[in-house]
Amino acid sequence: MAEQEWWRSAVIYEVYPRSFSDGSGDGVGDLAGVRERLGYLADLGVDALWFTPWYRSPMADGGYDVQDYRTIDPAFGTLADAEALVREALEHGIRTIVDVVPNHVSSEHPWFRDALAAGPGSPERQRFWFRPGRGEHGEVLPTTWVSNFAGTTWTRTADEHGRPGEWYLHLFSPEQPDLNWEHPDVRAEHEDVLRFWFDRGVAGVRIDSAALLVKDPTLPEVPPSPGPGEHPHEDRDDLHDVYRAWRRLADTYSPPRVLVGEVWLADSSRFARYLRPDELHTAFNFDLMARPWAAGPLRESIDLTLAAHRDVGAPATWVLSNHDVTRPVTRYGRVDTGFSFAAKRFGTPTDLDLGLRRARAASLLVAALPGSLYIYQGDELGLPEVEDLPDELRSDPMHARSGGVDPGRDGCRVPLPWSGDAAPFGFSPDGVQPWLPQPEDWKALTVERQLADPDSTLVLYRRTLRTRRAEPDLHSADLRWLDAGPDVLAFARGGIACVVNLGSAAVPLPAHDGVLLASAAFDGSALPPDTAAWLRLPEGVRIDT
Ligand code: GLC
Repeated sequence: MAEQEWWRSAVIYEVYPRSFSDGSGDGVGDLAGVRERLGYLADLGVDALWFTPWYRSPMADGGYDVQDYRTIDPAFGTLADAEALVREALEHGIRTIVDVVPNHVSSEHPWFRDALAAGPGSPERQRFWFRPGRGEHGEVLPTTWVSNFAGTTWTRTADEHGRPGEWYLHLFSPEQPDLNWEHPDVRAEHEDVLRFWFDRGVAGVRIDSAALLVKDPTLPEVPPSPGPGEHPHEDRDDLHDVYRAWRRLADTYSPPRVLVGEVWLADSSRFARYLRPDELHTAFNFDLMARPWAAGPLRESIDLTLAAHRDVGAPATWVLSNHDVTRPVTRYGRVDTGFSFAAKRFGTPTDLDLGLRRARAASLLVAALPGSLYIYQGDELGLPEVEDLPDELRSDPMHARSGGVDPGRDGCRVPLPWSGDAAPFGFSPDGVQPWLPQPEDWKALTVERQLADPDSTLVLYRRTLRTRRAEPDLHSADLRWLDAGPDVLAFARGGIACVVNLGSAAVPLPAHDGVLLASAAFDGSALPPDTAAWLRLPEGVRIDT
């Protein structure tokens, strides 16, 4: 595969900087902490790092409320630290992807402050969505749209005398006002931000909420079941022009910079439109992550995904988790193993041993599929969701805005355990309390412990990524399903097969010349439940494309 097309089969590790490693010793992870751990990431075998936003931010939404794209938040370090990190990562053979958040800015962003100060009808307000309210005194919301963080999408402004005025739109929290993508300043500014980071050697950008930017300017209500292109603030057809312009810009660099979209769309053909050859290179595929741990639904998701991508010539991506969703170990140990934001609730019982066993098998499954792979920090350690954080420590607006009904996303953002037998487990210097408390029993899950245990999840991940890197078939061969029964996912890619047993009884393996990897110990013949294995197919039965 051409080096330039590295993103077609790359392994990309998501760093949530606040929780990766604390180099400055203040309890908050930072860029110095990442720089100290680059050797760990290189040994893990990842090709690139995606950093969730590291820019100056009031942190109303963990940095997805950006105040200044050209400055690093002081909690994380300086621009010089970021530049050094990009350089040093490359010395380890690791590329960097940064996050851009084009749908909204922080309410502390100079544009929004200017807009509030300038008042109704001003050019400054045109960059956002300010509207008078309905009703006699403008007291009724302009629309009844529902925020992604629960509640309304509108907040009313007040002038310096406290008199209520216009309302402004925010699809997320009130601290994240939506930008107006009809406005030329908004387009020009974002292209300039892309250049700013591309000029600093980053390999690409991850585009936050990529399908939401463009709104129907008449701001109608959301129809009961909107057809394609009919939703007033999701997946609007005009949005594609934005990404065509970004692609032209990314292609002026050598090597071309890569665009990765965060696109949550149920319709796989609408999803694939973002991946046409002159638009984004790849987009996160969340369908598999949402499916329950069962062979039929997973196989259907894999088929749908591969078919949708094949049509546009783009590689699929595989994602088991990220900083927004419940950790796989916890999800897969529940009775209902699917994921949806709507169904997230406190206190669902989970069997963490079973969940870990399945999460390990799932990691072998996704690493064997054609396309690129995303790993969220801590999944390589088999960390569970931390479900018992005290409410007063939860900082996610999803929790607060749902009135505490939704546990929010803090539980997957707890600082990583690196070493030692007690918190802060090497995340921060001893005696420093990390910004979210780590569970006592994470002493068994530290990097230090797991490196010393050949059966640990970390060692499994390292072996998996090393094997994936070394086997050309896992980069280029198409997937062919093998028939192994209704509860089994079995497929070949060239001379390698991946078999995952999702049933409740052991199953025989197809003929093979050796087991390359297995997610749990077994005798080499029958594959136990909730276990995955990679097999070397016998000479001569290589299943080619
Ligand atoms: C994306 C991010 C999420 C953030 C939201 C608003 O979904 O992944 O963390 O809260 O966008 O920016």
